[in-house]
Amino acid sequence: MISRKIVENLGNSSFIRAMFEEGNRLRAAYGEENVFDFSIGNPEVEPPREVYDSLHEIADDRTPGTHRYMPNAGYSFVREAIAGKLSIDYDMKVPADNICMVCGAAAGLNVVLKSILNPGEEVIIFAPYFAEYKFYIGNGGGVPVVVETDGEFDIDIEQFRKAVTPLTKAVLINSPNNPTGVIYSREKLMELASVIKEKETEFRSDIFLISDEPYNEIIYVDEELPVVFNIFEKAVVVNSYSKSLALPGERIGYIAVSPAISECALLMAAIIFNNRTLGFVNAPAISQRLVAKAVNVSVDPEIYRERMELLYNKLIELGFECQKPAGAFYLFVKAPMDDEMEFLKIAQKYNILVVPGRGFGRAGFFRMAFCVSLETIKRSLPAFERLAAEIFS
Ligand SMILES: Cc1ncc(COP(=O)(O)O)c(C=O)c1O
Repeated sequence: MISRKIVENLGNSSFIRAMFEEGNRLRAAYGEENVFDFSIGNPEVEPPREVYDSLHEIADDRTPGTHRYMPNAGYSFVREAIAGKLSIDYDMKVPADNICMVCGAAAGLNVVLKSILNPGEEVIIFAPYFAEYKFYIGNGGGVPVVVETDGEFDIDIEQFRKAVTPLTKAVLINSPNNPTGVIYSREKLMELASVIKEKETEFRSDIFLISDEPYNEIIYVDEELPVVFNIFEKAVVVNSYSKSLALPGERIGYIAVSPAISECALLMAAIIFNNRTLGFVNAPAISQRLVAKAVNVSVDPEIYRERMELLYNKLIELGFECQKPAGAFYLFVKAPMDDEMEFLKIAQKYNILVVPGRGFGRAGFFRMAFCVSLETIKRSLPAFERLAAEIFS
């Protein structure tokens, strides 16, 4: 009765639902404060003060038409504000016409993929990857092709080269990365760009680089995030304010298309068309006004750094193996036994909830979202000590 594909996808994403249900069960049994739920990337941090100030101003605005339909790409003044900010950050002119406001990065990725993919074309993603990518690619009629990263979760150029085929239409990267926290260096991205060029010539094809950057403001190292527009010829950036302004419930983000793309105007027309016909119509009016006023504001990454350091140092001290994240708000930890599902079961005995690495395409690991309160992290440390005593003794 129900779509076979969707029923299959429901099965493939059941680990998230399972964690959600387990969390509810534990909270009901032991009380909210005794459950250490690191399963979801839902920021506990509140939006910056400027966001609340702007919300007041917006609420008081009685200008007629404020809440009506608008052009599907969004308000022109909002697109201009974002284009202006990107032009400074990228040190190149980004026209407002190349920006489309969308309902968060999830919508933005679906819109971009739908706009470029013909049925059966391939999109390369790097494992571990954000679990939803496979579904977004499927929604666009494409086929995900998974390429393993190296021992440090960095792009393995030779593995990548082998995975490119005449059907490759896009490469989807995410940096800072969910779940690993890795930031790809400019040098690595230049190598990636050069293989893409080489393969485009070999196959006489066009390969887009889609850069999913919702964590671009949450960085712990002394490095700038490389600007993909300056590295790749056919680059599309998808960004969102879910993490940078801690507004995931308000569904707001944007797509930025590189002016270097030869069919840039047609691609923008396709993107705006799909934003409309996939049913988003336009990004929410209030959220658009909000981000236009807060274009230069973001949550303070130091808030996350403190949580990361506390949890990371404790895990390392207890004997866990984990790469220190350069950005985003996740730890991707090696499970102390081969089967991470076995580890998850033991962790749950201590009311610790984490997500299995296999959901991100890398079994044998687990992901912890440290965007929970500092208090939760502090309270969880003795539970980790008891857990480690059971496992490592
Ligand atoms: C890597 C990555 N991409 C996209 C998204 C979707 O974010 P949004 O709330 O902007 O749709 C998330 C959310 O966690 C994410 O981690």
